[in-house]
Amino acid sequence: MKYIKNKFLIEKFTVENIAKKYGTPAYCYSYNRLKENIVNFKKSFKSFKPLICFAVKSNTNINLIKEIKKFGLGADVVSMGELMMALKAGINPKKIVFSGVGKTANEIKYAISKNILLINAESKSEIKEIERIAKSNKKKVEIGIRLNPNTDAKTLSQISTGKKGNKFGVDSKTFLSLTKYCKKSKNINLRCLSVHIGSQILDHKPYEKMLKVLSNIIKKSSYKFDFIDLGGGMGIPYDKLRKKLNFKKYNLAIKKFLKINSSTIIFEPGRSIIGNTGILVSKIIYIKKNTQKDFIILDAAMNDLIRPALYGAFHRILPAKKKNKKIKKKYEFVGPICESTDKFSSIKYSQELNEKDLVIIHDVGAYGMSLGSNYNLRLKPVELLIKNSKITVIRKRQTYKDII
Ligand code: LLP
Repeated sequence: MKYIKNKFLIEKFTVENIAKKYGTPAYCYSYNRLKENIVNFKKSFKSFKPLICFAVKSNTNINLIKEIKKFGLGADVVSMGELMMALKAGINPKKIVFSGVGKTANEIKYAISKNILLINAESKSEIKEIERIAKSNKKKVEIGIRLNPNTDAKTLSQISTGKKGNKFGVDSKTFLSLTKYCKKSKNINLRCLSVHIGSQILDHKPYEKMLKVLSNIIKKSSYKFDFIDLGGGMGIPYDKLRKKLNFKKYNLAIKKFLKINSSTIIFEPGRSIIGNTGILVSKIIYIKKNTQKDFIILDAAMNDLIRPALYGAFHRILPAKKKNKKIKKKYEFVGPICESTDKFSSIKYSQELNEKDLVIIHDVGAYGMSLGSNYNLRLKPVELLIKNSKITVIRKRQTYKDII
């Protein structure tokens, strides 16, 4: 993905031509980027051969999950729908972990029937529910318990999950008593300690702290966990000022941890695998000049990409075609939805934009389409995969017939 002669291309295709053929707004994913991310992730942690379970919530497109599966990855799922999707994509059940604070009896029954690797439980009530269902099925079910390590992930408060005020996991005291409880259970086999302290983490230090907490609690529990599931959360740079999480430092901290606690590490990365693989191509419908600023009204909106509206998240928005004439302007990119929060970013521009121009919203591969909705009864966009000099529609644009 780059500019060649002022035009933005994915492989050999210009965004202009893609938009002409498939319309806008359109999600486009680069297979090359996806491959690069997976290869790089695997390489960074290769010394301890982790089980990498792709966090399906970050992107639920079955065709992308199928591609991810081909690299040997498993899946981290949080609902029956995601579990079905992962299985349908061909992921080996023994590489699937099921997380989430509110799994229903139905979901637990389904997961047990599919013999997945682990159900990561998040409360005593859930463990009892798993035990009850396992007993009625005459099974011994393999589980993990999610610990809330009370570690500040130093990320946006809305996507921080590992502090004691958060709903996720159990505190240390409860964790220790649940470990004892599971030891005695005939229908539960406790195999994993799991954590996930938050998302979009750019600093390795919270992970180091978390690993210390884990070491302490493992020691206190005197329990041998076959798996330590460290969750996901590895952050990516959405703007030029930031760098992605330093995998080298995280790797070193884990290696140190494993010297005392030998077990198989599980990761549940979403964003770091798929985030920068996707762009959202959008067309400018109108430009509205205001006394304070110019509004660029796009045909993409918060129903297509809700991250800016929900978290104040920043995404780079760049023109599909660079123009040589330089100007200085501040543009506010907004969507057509009837909400003031339907706004992407305010960006200083060095070129003039015009109505009907195309723009590219970057790094939308994770939590873009998967958080999409039909708000304002807008149609969900098309999804395209660019692989080996071929464009494939991997999800059709919704039609009015689909939703009305
Ligand atoms: N494992 C668990 C248990 C999780 O809850 C999550 C994300 C992940 C793994 C994957 O985290 P990642 O590697 O993608 O950071 N919608 C928000 C992000 C919410 C993340 C929720 N949990 C956003 O757009 O930034």
